[in-house]
Amino acid sequence: MAKPKILISDNLDQDGVDILNASGLFEVDFRKKTSREELEAVIPEVEGLIIRSASKVDKALVEKAAKLKVVIRAGVGVDNIDIPVCSQKGIVVMNAPAGNSVSTAEQAIAMMFALARKLPQAHGSMKQKKWEKTKFQGSQLTGKTLGVVGLGRIGKEVVKRAKGLQMKVLGFDPYIPAENLTSLEIDLVPIDTILKESDFITVHTPLTDATRGLVNEKNLSLLKPGVRLINCARGGIYDEAAIVKGVKDGIIGGAGLDVFVEEPLPATSELYEHDDIILTPHLGASTDEAQIEVAKESAESMVAYFKNGVARNSLNFPTIDPTSMDALAPWFSLCEQVGSFVGQMMKNPLKDIEISYRGEFTALNLAPLEIALTKGLLTIAMGDEVNLVNAPLLAKERSLRINSRKAEKTEKEPSILVLTVYDEKERLTLKAAVGATGGVITELNGNPLKLRPEGNLLYILNNDTPGVVGKLGTLLGEHNINISSMELSRGKKGGEARTFLGLDDEMPKALLETIRKKEFIVEARFIKI
Ligand code: NAD
Ligand code: MLT
Repeated sequence: MAKPKILISDNLDQDGVDILNASGLFEVDFRKKTSREELEAVIPEVEGLIIRSASKVDKALVEKAAKLKVVIRAGVGVDNIDIPVCSQKGIVVMNAPAGNSVSTAEQAIAMMFALARKLPQAHGSMKQKKWEKTKFQGSQLTGKTLGVVGLGRIGKEVVKRAKGLQMKVLGFDPYIPAENLTSLEIDLVPIDTILKESDFITVHTPLTDATRGLVNEKNLSLLKPGVRLINCARGGIYDEAAIVKGVKDGIIGGAGLDVFVEEPLPATSELYEHDDIILTPHLGASTDEAQIEVAKESAESMVAYFKNGVARNSLNFPTIDPTSMDALAPWFSLCEQVGSFVGQMMKNPLKDIEISYRGEFTALNLAPLEIALTKGLLTIAMGDEVNLVNAPLLAKERSLRINSRKAEKTEKEPSILVLTVYDEKERLTLKAAVGATGGVITELNGNPLKLRPEGNLLYILNNDTPGVVGKLGTLLGEHNINISSMELSRGKKGGEARTFLGLDDEMPKALLETIRKKEFIVEARFIKI
């Protein structure tokens, strides 16, 4: 079978490409730069796409991407990906956010030094063989007030470094509870206080309606005179025209900008005109270390997704924290198999599903397990159309009610999944767990079982009388179907017994009908997982 094609359409460090190749899973097409025409031409065959900021994954591209399953942004910002459109098409979107935080924080600190000591200006002057000592007198950072807007990954790294420089740090982030920020040991203040009291302001937020124009022409007068502004996050958080005006009017002492509303910055921009505005071409993440990290992170996420169906750092699917990956991956497969199993065991479409998690894994984020189970269930009816991104949406459209809960105070017990499903007439309940050799259904309708829910299974419900298994074995043998395993589950002796036979091959329909007609059979079903 042909391997899935992975396209890397922007420049990526070779370490990432090597990880993809070494996995042996993919046909990798690495193009350091891809024009829109090339991208549109190749995308119909691509199953996994890795991009940086140059390639745009918009509606028009997604419509052409018939096989696309995953888009990974090697970096943080996903402003070049239409996530709602990807979700509708069932395409998982992930980013690689951790690898470039330190480098970007360092870029912000470097900007702060460059602004305080006018380093680029002094360098430019000396390159013209001048010696302008008084012109470039700067200011010290120690004791100055730094306002940090956005206290996520990068903002926090900036805070740590600024404190090391003995600056007074003010922070603003309305989306992080204050108790989660106490270890930073900074003053959390309203945004207006940041604007009024800071000698330097640095922003580390995404560009949103709330952050666009955080400094604008109307609030320039709020700023502390001489303030220096730093933006290594996204262009537009400070209004570009306001920066130019503020610098011209002497309100803003300088600005260090790494990102712009339009990139590359158009030649007509007034930002070029002022010496006190220091510009770098979106270099925050451009260090050897950050590029290696994001490339590795992206490639590992691609491999994990194609290998285990696990999405790390996904933006449209409950994400699995990489540190929980090893613990959760076998549960993920088990839940998908169990979803498929119960869907095939029940005679009518399911109406309600109750999932209860017990034991030590309740300490982890288990939301992805519900989705894996839903996917397994819906795939029976909908085939490849269902994936982890659209499964919850499709379940809702089918009025399937799913309720998950974690049992309280069970964190010291072994992990176990308890599932009860209802169709309009029946109810089925099972327990499942992950053992040393993989996932197992350990109990069915209150009776013990030891079934691996995988491959071809013949399920038989029969009256518990001697000789049933022998008769079945003979019938299957006559049709040249080999039995690979057998699991029994029954309550009281002589009552109803359930038998699961693992088969090497699929079960011919006619043979299933023959088995169903046997007087010792109550029910027979072929289950394929
Ligand atoms: P993050 O998600 O870890 O942190 C962003 C923080 O901003 C969050 O804590 C969030 O609560 C906060 N926030 C959101 N809206 C806010 C608002 N209105 N006011 C105050 N805080 C708000 O992201 P990160 O990894 O720290 O990245 C921050 C930014 O830096 C992103 O825009 C990212 O794209 C950009 N970035 C730029 C470069 C570069 O090369 N210049 C490199 C990496 C990241
Ligand atoms: C990011 O969002 O990660 C940055 O803008 C860095 C980049 O990819 O250039």
